[in-house]
Amino acid sequence: ARSDALPQDLAGVRVVVSGGGTREPLDPVRFLGNRSSGRQGYALARVAAQRGARVTLVGANTVDLPDPAGVDVVRVRTAEDLHQAMRVAAETADVLVMAAAVADFRPTAMLGHKIKKTDRDPDPIALTRTTDVLAELVTERRAGQVIVGFAAETGDAETSVLDHGRAKLKRKGCDLLLVNEVGDGSAFEIPDNTGWLLGADGTETFIPTGSKAQLAAVLWDAVTALRAT
Ligand code: CTP
Ligand code: CA
Repeated sequence: ARSDALPQDLAGVRVVVSGGGTREPLDPVRFLGNRSSGRQGYALARVAAQRGARVTLVGANTVDLPDPAGVDVVRVRTAEDLHQAMRVAAETADVLVMAAAVADFRPTAMLGHKIKKTDRDPDPIALTRTTDVLAELVTERRAGQVIVGFAAETGDAETSVLDHGRAKLKRKGCDLLLVNEVGDGSAFEIPDNTGWLLGADGTETFIPTGSKAQLAAVLWDAVTALRAT
């Protein structure tokens, strides 16, 4: 997986990346999901491996994507599966990157049988909060661990995408937050990506539109710089 063309500045560094989107089952054939393809997480894992890292990729519902070369892939489905996989992987990780789109809520009940339609409107679906994996990783951070979050945001009348990102970085307590603007076809299901990389130390780097591999390179540069301080 190493690449002669790239710096080996992550040589021996133990990196864990989550990618894809979780699916929360409603009944045996239905789920609540999201539009994350997993490509950004895969690009992050691939580029880290090319720069010499020992990489574990926790992939949520990314069955269509081939495993990146030289990367250990752990496949998960639900937010709770992902939570458990990240807990285990975090024990020996130097760097944790939460690029997965994790469901905030799951159906309170998983029915053992398929929901059947009747003549009347159905009952509303009761939802329960999932664990905030990133917040928990920050709380249980091991000495020297670097923790990176992602945020897909839409702007609104009062608050810009960047301001939402700044507030989320503070709230999450991670070292870096990659903020993507979404809506109008940006970020989800397309190969290109743009955004800002916000650092807890106040640094803000604009990432112009480019490939997910280019975005990954910017992110690993920032992680390498943080680890050097
Ligand atoms: N995340 C997580 N566990 C969750 C939800 C989110 O680890 N249950 C992580 C995501 O992987 C991402 C970061 O938290 O790295 C931000 O996710 P986001 O959905 O943008 O933030 P939330 O805190 O869930 O806020 P909201 O969805 O309300 O904007
Ligand atoms: Ca969320």
